[in-house]
Amino acid sequence: MKNLCVLRDCRRRVATAALLVLAGTILASRTVKGQFPPSPSQTFIPNGTSFLNLAGASQTYSTAGGGIDETGPFFQSLGTNGRSCGSCHQPSDGMSVSALDVQLRFDETAGTDPIFRTVDGSNCDHNIDVSTLQGRSSAYSLLRTRGLIRIALAVPSGANYAVTAVSNPYACNETNVISQYRRPLPATNLRFLSAVMWDGRESTPLTGTTKIVYANYPGALEGDLAHQSVDATVTHAQGDGTRPTAAEQTEIVNFEMALSTAQSLGFLTGPLNSVGATGGPVPLATLPFFISINSSVHALLPNGPEQPGGLNAPGDNLFTSNIFNLYDAWSKLPSYDFGASVARGQTIFNTRPITITGVAGINDDVSLGGLVSGGIPSLTGTCGTCHDTPNVGNHSFPTPLNIGTGDPGASNSHVNMGGLDISYLPQITVCQLVNGQVTDTCKTTSDLGQALIDGNFDHVGKIKGPILRGLSARAPYFHNGSAQSLLDVVHFYENRFGLVLSSQDELDLVNFLSAL
Ligand code: HEC
Ligand code: HEC
Repeated sequence: MKNLCVLRDCRRRVATAALLVLAGTILASRTVKGQFPPSPSQTFIPNGTSFLNLAGASQTYSTAGGGIDETGPFFQSLGTNGRSCGSCHQPSDGMSVSALDVQLRFDETAGTDPIFRTVDGSNCDHNIDVSTLQGRSSAYSLLRTRGLIRIALAVPSGANYAVTAVSNPYACNETNVISQYRRPLPATNLRFLSAVMWDGRESTPLTGTTKIVYANYPGALEGDLAHQSVDATVTHAQGDGTRPTAAEQTEIVNFEMALSTAQSLGFLTGPLNSVGATGGPVPLATLPFFISINSSVHALLPNGPEQPGGLNAPGDNLFTSNIFNLYDAWSKLPSYDFGASVARGQTIFNTRPITITGVAGINDDVSLGGLVSGGIPSLTGTCGTCHDTPNVGNHSFPTPLNIGTGDPGASNSHVNMGGLDISYLPQITVCQLVNGQVTDTCKTTSDLGQALIDGNFDHVGKIKGPILRGLSARAPYFHNGSAQSLLDVVHFYENRFGLVLSSQDELDLVNFLSAL
């Protein structure tokens, strides 16, 4: 297919000098497969290596050892099915995987690359036939087209809801173990995390891990990441639990914590650290961070909120909505310059008011771990109300939210609350239990989020807001891949929150997000 050949070129390693890239000079072709063992020529990716994507190129920069050593445990097969962490977290794809690259791998290997394993790579793990190419194409369709991995989690005992129905298009209809479909979160920029996994399940005492707060950061985060590396090997790589060893866990965590990833080149703007801009991964490596560095919801509360754990964080009540300043210098460029469009997009992100309603985690209850109760029915905020970590964009403190990316729209169950197609996902209905009796207070969603971890009906669909750097390397977006492009993301916010943007505004915002 012609467009795939173009994309294959996109994966070639290119010269770091962006002008050479713009001139079309593509050096040393290489693809990063995360396969083990890597061929001798594929064992080290020096800092400064650019990986092309549809908007330009991204780079992953390591503060340890001058680059990415692909002989480390992150890239080794530690389980039984040939997968490594690198199967789903690739340097070429901002340490996640783009759906287009998964499709390429499918085409190159006729669907036999280790990412294609029925344990969680196929839409369901039973009633499938992967003995033929046709069978594999259909079994792995969600992975090929949306980059989705099946995350099957048991309903916790003692949940205050019952799963009354599951309508899964791929036959995984069990109501005790729920199949949900999620994008690999990038295994980079992890220094900025306030919760590990979409549903925070690697950062909660419920799973033997630790909630990350100001007082225990970064130790708790590192402990959670070590635990996660074992869980990931057991589930995705069908390991027996003996690997990664303690030493390998430490190596994986140190490897991950040293990485910074960002878009480094825009095809229309040139290098993202030119003309006074501070894009690209290198500034991320020294960016200050602590939990609650820019508390947003906290700032709405009287008297400076307490962190669970008893300590006020220095960022409490100091919220600024000016989350990003990378492209301040480009606001002085002539308006026709593409850099000026990126700067306008940054201003929209930082300042355009959004009316936030119906978001579980803000509008129902900003409970902050049970210390405060009551919600804010309607809140005028900005993109940064939820994406508040300066120049990174995730929540600077643990704040699971449900913005409706996995919930059916009011009048059409095939689209989510922002009008994006979710017909390819299961519909899961849960009803609240009162005194052990099923009530008719029910919700239907495609992903139970935090509620599948803590069993709390009020937490249905709550997930974390992810880091917004390196987006261009890893389409599609949202936990369920429902936004195929960044324009889809912007349309979601327009439909969901009544945000009014002109087509120029939309373009500016997309250009900005593409340059992160
Ligand atoms: C089959 C694909 C696959 C493999 C293999 C895999 N992951 Fe992941 N990874 C995912 C998915 C999907 C998620 C998000 C799942 C969720 O949140 O429910 C994820 C999430 C993560 C996160 C959480 C990041 C964040 O922002 O919270 C880290 C860290 C991570 N993986 C590291 C690893 C490591 C280390 C390994 C190897 C031991 C590994 N992964 C192997 C698919 C994979
Ligand atoms: C009310 C809170 C909230 C507001 C306001 C908000 N977001 Fe988000 N954002 C989230 C959450 C939560 C997610 C994760 C949703 C999911 O994955 O399903 C998310 C996800 C995203 C993603 C996808 C990232 C990825 O890796 O898939 C992008 C891009 C994004 N938001 C951009 C924006 C922009 C631009 C704005 C302003 C127009 C904005 N957000 C406003 C909470 C918010």
